Order: sequence, then structure tokens, then C-alpha cells
Amino acid sequence: MELTQLRRQFPALMQQVNGQSPLFLDGPGGSQVPQSVLSAMSAYLGYFNSNLGGAFFSSDKTVALMDDARQAVADFLNAPSKEQIVFGANMTSLTFSFSRAISRDWQAGDEVIVTNADHYSNVSSWRLAAEDKGASVLAARINEQDCTLDLAHFKSLLNENTKLVALTYASNTTGSINDIKQVVELAHQVGALVYVDAVHYAPHELIDVQALDCDFLACSAYKFFGPHVGIVYGKREHLEGFTPYKVEPAKDVIPGRWETGTQSFEGLAGVIAAIDYIASLSGMTQDTPRRERLAVAFAKTKQHEMKLSEYFLTRLEQLPQISLFGIADKSRLSERTPTFALTFEGFEPRQVSEFLGKQHICVWDGNFYAQGLCEQLGVMDKGGVVRIGCMHYNTVEELENLFMAFEQLLSA
Ligand SMILES: Cc1ncc(COP(=O)(O)O)c(C=O)c1O
Repeated sequence: MELTQLRRQFPALMQQVNGQSPLFLDGPGGSQVPQSVLSAMSAYLGYFNSNLGGAFFSSDKTVALMDDARQAVADFLNAPSKEQIVFGANMTSLTFSFSRAISRDWQAGDEVIVTNADHYSNVSSWRLAAEDKGASVLAARINEQDCTLDLAHFKSLLNENTKLVALTYASNTTGSINDIKQVVELAHQVGALVYVDAVHYAPHELIDVQALDCDFLACSAYKFFGPHVGIVYGKREHLEGFTPYKVEPAKDVIPGRWETGTQSFEGLAGVIAAIDYIASLSGMTQDTPRRERLAVAFAKTKQHEMKLSEYFLTRLEQLPQISLFGIADKSRLSERTPTFALTFEGFEPRQVSEFLGKQHICVWDGNFYAQGLCEQLGVMDKGGVVRIGCMHYNTVEELENLFMAFEQLLSA
């Protein structure tokens, strides 16, 4: 699908704010949403708003919708079955709840490894669970020159006491992608489980939980063009084997035993539409299985996103007053998402984002809960970084405008 045509599907991208087209470079904080997602959510609420298990049409529809949403996510992640997909309010709440269940048998002497690349949803959950059991948490460092995981340090922490490794698939701050398959192999050699945070990675590349062989993987639909719904995939043996905290009358079968309270059914309608939107970018008809369409779609968006990264990094080379944290090497674009962490000589991150915000260029500043990363990089107490986050719907022209604004700021 052509970029202009694709952008027309997003009301937010078509709007004018004070006569100007806003420039959304805030994707890692939450992506924009296509009309098909909005329509699916409003149709569910408008005609079928109900709950599960009733003896009437809208409740039947809700049951079927939930089933369809699980299948859509199973296709999205290549889960072996839809029963291995758990929904919740958001990734953080789900991870706290999984951490409680997974840590039930931990004891003093047990260890957990997190990494300095992680968002603290995937750190605090485990740190607090470990604290309750007298277990300890160790943090693997990153290589500062490119913000990738320091694998040698990670290996030095791993031992037969390691119960779990929690790490991010891609950094929500620098865009650096971790080699999850390798980490899983190493962790499994010592009998440790691996809980992957794919929140930042999910809108950018195709995930294959079977190829990764990870034990759990979490993501969040509002980062991949959908609404606020959290998702966890788990291996069947774990979803059946661990005991979740659940209300007693609720059925004790997977995946429902992990889902507390009533889900956002309108959100689930949006999740299906978001995944179908991504699949539609393949340009293939619905006769082709959804997983295959998703693979083709992600190959296309990755190519476009690498073009954006290449342009971004080339322009950045001409502005020595701006420092980049993360992969700058243009021969390694496949190892990053188009998310860039920057600091500006003479300007606080907030000053930069405010300057850009006045021109309706939407970017974030701060630490994005990637506290370990910001501490290791020494920016935690300096307002963090400015984060420029591109998505497949962004254009090179938009980046030209961004760099014009950077030049204005630096020459002010
Ligand atoms: C990498 C990463 N992990 C986890 C989260 C938390 O996700 P949620 O907002 O669904 O709890 C975020 C949110 O920004 C994130 O960027």
C-alpha cells in the first residue's frame, strides 16, 4: 500500500491543529490508530455491549469476539494455540500478576536477572516479588557505545540459581534490539525461565514465540495501532502449571484463570482490527492465511522504517551539537527500531520537546521508565533524553521538517 493512502486511514494524521499538520514522532509512547480500529470498537459498544456467558445474542457475540481476538493474537505472535494468549488491562498489570504467581516457590538464594535495557514494568515486578521471597535480583549491563545488551556480563551473572531472566526485546528508549533467541538458549541451559517484554518491538517486527522458545512474552496493543489492552503469551505447561491469584468461582482453566475481572471487550474488538490492519499492509487478499500476510506486511514496514533510520542518522551526522545513544552505524539498521535517544548541547530534554511541541511536533522527553539505562548512561538526573520515535506511517518529509526545527533550535 502506498504511504499517502495508508496515512489517510489514520484520522490523527489527517487532522489540522491551528492550521498545521501535526507531526507524530511519539510512537513508542503509543501509536496512532486507524479508522478500522475505531469503527470496530464503536460497533461492539454500539450493538453488542455485554458480558460472557449469557443466554442471548450479544453475550454470544462477546464470547465469539474474545475467541477471535485470541486467535488474531496467536497469529500475530505465532503462538501454538489461542489458549496461550492472556488479556489484561496493560502489560504492567499483567506482569505484576504473573510475577506473583511465578515467584510463589522462590526462596533465599534464588536469583533473577533483569537488564539495564529494560522498562521498569519488567524490573519492578520481579524485584518486588524477589524481595518478598528473599531472592536477589541482578542487572545485566548494556554496552554503552550502542546500547545493546552486554552479553558477556549477562553470561557472568547466569548460574544454576537463576530462576528467571526478564528482558526487553527492543529498548523503548534507544531502539536497540536484543538477541532474544540467544538469551533464551543460555537461560534454558541453567533451567531459568525467560519473560520477554516485546512492547516496544511489536509494532516494528514480526514476533515468533515458537522460534524464540521464550517462556512468556508480553506486549501492549496501544503500541501497535490498537487500543489499551495488555497481552501475555505463555507456554502451555507454565499457564497450566503455575497458580495465578484468581477469584474462587472463576473457572480454573487456561487462559481465563489468568484473566481477573471483566476484560475490555471493545478493546479486544480493536485488537483484532489492529492486527488485521497490519496484515492488510501486505496488499494480499484474505485468502492468504493471516500469519503469512503479517510476515509480508512486516517485511515491508521494516524496509520503510530502515529508510527512515538511514535518513535520520545521515542528517544527525551533520549536527555535532546532538548526541545519540544507540546504534549509529548505518550498516546495522536491522538491529534497531527507528527510535532515537538524543541529548542536545546547551538544552535540557524538556526544553527541546517544548520547543518542538509548540510547532506541533510531538516527541517525548524523560527516562520512559528505562531507569537502569538512563542511570548507566548518566542522564537520569539530567532530564533523561529526547526520544524521537518513528512508525511505519511516518515519512522522510516529516523527518526533513523535524531536522529543520532542530536547526532552528540550535541556531536560536
Ligand atoms: C518497553 C515497554 N515495556 C512496558 C511498557 C508498559 O506497558 P503498559 O503501558 O502496557 O503497561 C512500556 C510502556 O511504555 C514500554 O515501552
